[in-house]
Amino acid sequence: MSCPFDLHRLLRETSLQHVEYHPSLTSTNTLAAELLEPLIARSPALVLAAEQTAGRGRRGNQWWSAAGSLTFSLVLRSLDLPLPPERRPMVAIAAGLAVRDVLASLAANLEFSLKWPNDVLTNSRKICGILVEQHGNVDQQGLIIGIGVNVNNSLAEAPTDVSQRATSLSDLQGQPFDLTDVLIRILLQLDARISQLVSQPRLALSEANHHNVLNGRVVSIQTGDSRISGTCAGIDEDGQLVLQTLNGLVRCPTGVVCEW
Ligand code: BTN
Repeated sequence: MSCPFDLHRLLRETSLQHVEYHPSLTSTNTLAAELLEPLIARSPALVLAAEQTAGRGRRGNQWWSAAGSLTFSLVLRSLDLPLPPERRPMVAIAAGLAVRDVLASLAANLEFSLKWPNDVLTNSRKICGILVEQHGNVDQQGLIIGIGVNVNNSLAEAPTDVSQRATSLSDLQGQPFDLTDVLIRILLQLDARISQLVSQPRLALSEANHHNVLNGRVVSIQTGDSRISGTCAGIDEDGQLVLQTLNGLVRCPTGVVCEW
């Protein structure tokens, strides 16, 4: 398979110091964790694959990533990101916002929204998933921001459970997109959204809330053994989902959205 990315252009037009490209990988997040030390030394670094054979989602889920999809992991040195630990969940939300911005600019005829904590949706279907992981020891901690976007992969070829709830940019627009171009746009926007988290946290939060599809809806969140239902009052500054329940406001640091 010829490389679907222009790697020179990628290095030229972004702040990346290193790109680790593989035609096929199990998972870019897994390789990023294995190569963490050398990648942190050259951060921001990117692990990029034309396809993944065992893409990982949150909570042990699989991420279907056929050729034509965009699957990558950005490795940052945690120390370079001056955010207190409790605000780290906002990184996944900032990444979702960045992808949302880029997709909205590429397909102005469609509406894209965030679905807390880490999905980007259009027409109620998932088009992007994000898996942020933190690894390493105290001095050399790395943040791995894994992003999968359905760009040129057709959902017609996906397993049924995926094709029923997901979509891709080319399926929606009826044309393929230049993967290097989409990737560069996302990386630049990711840079801007992460900087905004540090310099203008209130603005970042209000934009996240503006695009969060759950706001104002009655939702059920599964967290461990318990299920909490209430009206979504928004995302707070620590990236928690706030629900107005019969017993008052409840903050969910994490969880699975079961109903919305
Ligand atoms: C989710 O929706 O649960 C998160 C999906 C994250 C998928 C991306 S694809 C690139 C990176 N490598 C992985 O194995 N997972 C992330």
